[in-house]
Amino acid sequence: MADKSLQDKEKKLAAEKAVEYIENGMTVGLGTGSTVYFAIRKLGEKVKQGLKIKAVSSSNVSTDLARSSGIEPVSIDDAGEIDINIDGADEADRDFNGIKGGGGALLFEKIVALNSGRNIWIVDSGKLVKTLGKFPLPVEVIPFGHKGVLKILEEYNPVIRKRGDSYYKTDSGNLIFDLNMNRINDPLALDMELKQITGIVETGLFINIADTIIIGKENSTEVLFKK
Ligand code: A5P
Repeated sequence: MADKSLQDKEKKLAAEKAVEYIENGMTVGLGTGSTVYFAIRKLGEKVKQGLKIKAVSSSNVSTDLARSSGIEPVSIDDAGEIDINIDGADEADRDFNGIKGGGGALLFEKIVALNSGRNIWIVDSGKLVKTLGKFPLPVEVIPFGHKGVLKILEEYNPVIRKRGDSYYKTDSGNLIFDLNMNRINDPLALDMELKQITGIVETGLFINIADTIIIGKENSTEVLFKK
């Protein structure tokens, strides 16, 4: 999507719609990214108006944002079951599969998601795709011996993510390899293949995790529920 202001408007619409599902007393998962930003801000407003929630964050960035919005996250290990997790995605298909990790938080995001009773993805309309894979697939890799993993992944055109002149490091101190495949025909098979490689901690393929996708559209939202 070329128009950044329209994209931001759609992100905000989707994010604020998701917040409507949050009720008093719930434990809420906070994803990461520029779409979740709007959800955390809105949640913060509601908390200031009296909404009582517990929140579990998926990254240092979201923890900082939550705090500055008036929400103090609790540790995932103290939180118990998370009722609803709200997160963004880089690509989502109508089978409720997606690619995440554009912001580098995929490992904690997946852990939060798997501890959640319900997972809502919030996306702008440009992120809904027929086939996953145009967006490079992020994979989190342990630094020790990463050159060997790079070689194994050669056929997928891996690029080690950088921040300035250094390698990008996740909140766990790992590297991100972005795999450039253009098209992923069988996401589940690819995920299983990648997870068998020692040194790969997690992949950005989120399969069978989301149950609701809220798509921001120019002036409205479309909500898809998994059957
Ligand atoms: C963070 O690592 C990601 O998984 C994000 O959830 C995803 O990249 C979507 O981010 P945006 O909302 O910024 O597009």
